[in-house]
Amino acid sequence: MERFFFEEPGPEREADALAYIREFYEHGSEINGAGGLHRYLDDYAGWLEKLRQDALREPTEEKVPARTYFLVRESDNRIVGMSNIRLTLNEKLRQFGGHIGFSIRPTERGKGYNKINLYLGLKVCAQHGIGTVLLDADLHNPASWRTMEALGGVRTREYFDEQYSHCVVVDYSIDVDKALAEHPEYEGRILRS
Ligand SMILES: CC(C)(COP(=O)(O)OP(=O)(O)OC[C@H]1O[C@@H](n2cnc3c(N)ncnc32)[C@H](O)[C@@H]1OP(=O)(O)O)[C@@H](O)C(=O)NCCC(=O)NCCS
Repeated sequence: MERFFFEEPGPEREADALAYIREFYEHGSEINGAGGLHRYLDDYAGWLEKLRQDALREPTEEKVPARTYFLVRESDNRIVGMSNIRLTLNEKLRQFGGHIGFSIRPTERGKGYNKINLYLGLKVCAQHGIGTVLLDADLHNPASWRTMEALGGVRTREYFDEQYSHCVVVDYSIDVDKALAEHPEYEGRILRS
């Protein structure tokens, strides 16, 4: 069975990281959870510096402290996904965006990888003392909200978002300790926490 781990982005991953983003453009896919990497395609070192600052940030209404990870498959050391985890929420993120943004590269979707991605993300939240994780998804993106439901997410709201998505958005809440306790099956799919 394939196993996975979260890796903090470093200089040695430049080519892999750019190939990851390129694949989204080739498939016309929305990019999420990439910590803004798609805005730094000509400045990978600048992106690493941005991530360093993201981790140290004091929370404001504009920005909050966050961490970004590559989801890596052990067998071939390939980046298959990414997650961006906000360690504190400001009012804007509480309303829209929540704690975690995630993605799986287009050629690796539909294999259950995002459930492992979210499981690892919840472990990071637990390490940072976050007891309840808030997430949201567009209703027309079932792969996203089904991932949340698979990890115990409870739908708390469904509404038409006039401001950001301009579509129906579903909000979810996950009790982190409960989710981790009730899904031991993912423990065997991860290499390190
Ligand atoms: C959303 C995304 C991360 C899902 O990744 P994935 O690896 O394909 O998801 P998984 O294979 O782990 O599947 C998660 C759940 O969604 C379901 N699912 C996967 N693809 C689906 C699809 N195309 N339609 C409906 N359900 C789907 C799976 O069956 C699973 O649910 P289950 O456990 O009830 O069976 C991926 O599609 C992606 O990167 N999309 C672009 C970025 C994005 O939209 N991010 C989320 C923003 S909130």
